[in-house]
Amino acid sequence: MANERQFKLKTQFIATRNVREYRATIPVWVTKNDVVLEIGCEWGTTTVEIAPFCKEVVGTDISAECIERARQRHPEIEFALLDAFDVRAALDLGKKFTKVYIDVSGLSGYRSLLDVIALLTAYATVLRPEAIVIKSGALKQFASRCVPWRGGERAAVDTNEAEDDE
Ligand SMILES: C[S@@+](CC[C@H](N)C(=O)[O-])C[C@H]1O[C@@H](n2cnc3c(N)ncnc32)[C@H](O)[C@@H]1O
Repeated sequence: MANERQFKLKTQFIATRNVREYRATIPVWVTKNDVVLEIGCEWGTTTVEIAPFCKEVVGTDISAECIERARQRHPEIEFALLDAFDVRAALDLGKKFTKVYIDVSGLSGYRSLLDVIALLTAYATVLRPEAIVIKSGALKQFASRCVPWRGGERAAVDTNEAEDDE
């Protein structure tokens, strides 16, 4: 039974539908004191866009080829191998991450929704960043249908979700 002493997540989750939206969050959500972790950085294209907005950024990917290519393209940026589902390994990077960006293949389809929620909950619980931005059309669609009940009026739900995922 929930009570006042129950652990509550403080992390905010920002769901984006495609890479354009994912990158558009950077100037809005990343600030100069942030230490940012990107999970699923591929060749570091977004990581390098995040860099000028924050104190430090680390790009990570499960693919050794991607990390090698990212390091060649952007030698000024730190990259590391990481499986998104190994949250302990993310902790072992030894940084106090304040923002996390997640763009891992396979998380956009509706059937991946439970994996997305499990991943977000794990990172929010273990790393406790202020915010996690994730590229997941499924989560954005689901979140757009959720209305936290606060009493009073019936809130309108956004039904205008016509853009394509990427
Ligand atoms: C769409 S690409 C990322 C693009 C990149 N974020 C950008 O903005 O340019 C998805 C990446 O997820 C990586 N990936 C897939 N499964 C992963 C996992 N379990 N952990 C970490 N990265 C993973 C892939 O290797 C791939 O590089």
